[in-house]
Amino acid sequence: MVLVPPLEPRPRRAAPAVPLQGVWDSVREDLEAVEAILHAESGGPLPVMELVAGHLTGAGGKRLRPTLCLLAARLAGIPAGPRRTVAAVSEMIHTASLLHDDVVDEAPTRRGRPSAPRVFGNASCVLMGDSLMARSLTLLAALPDPGPLVSLARCVRRMAVGELTQLSLAGREPSLAACLRVVEGKTAALFAWSAAVGELAPPPLRGPLARFGRRLGVAFQIADDLLDLCGDPAQTGKRIGADLAGGKITLPVHLACRAAPELRSAIAEWLEARDE
Ligand code: FPP
Ligand code: MG
Repeated sequence: MVLVPPLEPRPRRAAPAVPLQGVWDSVREDLEAVEAILHAESGGPLPVMELVAGHLTGAGGKRLRPTLCLLAARLAGIPAGPRRTVAAVSEMIHTASLLHDDVVDEAPTRRGRPSAPRVFGNASCVLMGDSLMARSLTLLAALPDPGPLVSLARCVRRMAVGELTQLSLAGREPSLAACLRVVEGKTAALFAWSAAVGELAPPPLRGPLARFGRRLGVAFQIADDLLDLCGDPAQTGKRIGADLAGGKITLPVHLACRAAPELRSAIAEWLEARDE
């Protein structure tokens, strides 16, 4: 049997101290307001709700989507109330999607600690994800412009279709187009929605902002897929090779197989041995 050799984490070059600090600083006040919304909206009447949502939101998320949204909103001149609501919703939907994703992926860890389903069980995580999504819809429904609510519904559907496409391809090598469909659905759709400030950005800016967000989302997912293969678990908080072990042939693996076709049989044998 040929086994895929485990990839050793490479030594990292020292990064400059917080290289994007200036970018974060420019929206700091808004981010603090978003944090307050997240705190107020992520829990619920039961202590378990605060615990499940807090397990993720309190575990060092980067607040990438809200930051992207707030930076774009500044460019587009969106008032504080709606831009903060849309930014908070982008993080709430992200949290909901991770709660569901860790159930789908049967993930043992997330952000360096046991995943929420391992701590609270699948049922609580699915239901908490549903609650976060419902709270998000309520917040958006209170805005004077229906655009963010309508566009979020489309975005969440794209995310679900992306995840379903990935599930339907499990254990098979997808085409490049299929790999991109998965990534554009499950990850890039929410980046695009955030960058277009939930479609509150006016038409001349909306298209370019959404395109920028979509491409950033694709790049982000490719980096995440690479970290699955060769990241340092101490930094990623996830085990190496989890995607492959779950039968997910990601875009970097697809490209590696095209460059080195002998990898295909190695991976196929590895997956077969794993299923026995
Ligand atoms: C992580 O991907 C998961 C996503 C980017 C999106 C998951 C989307 C859904 C579950 C459908 C939408 C659901 C809701 C509630 C909005 P990954 O598994 O590649 O990354 P990981 O290594 O961080 O788990
Ligand atoms: Mg996952």
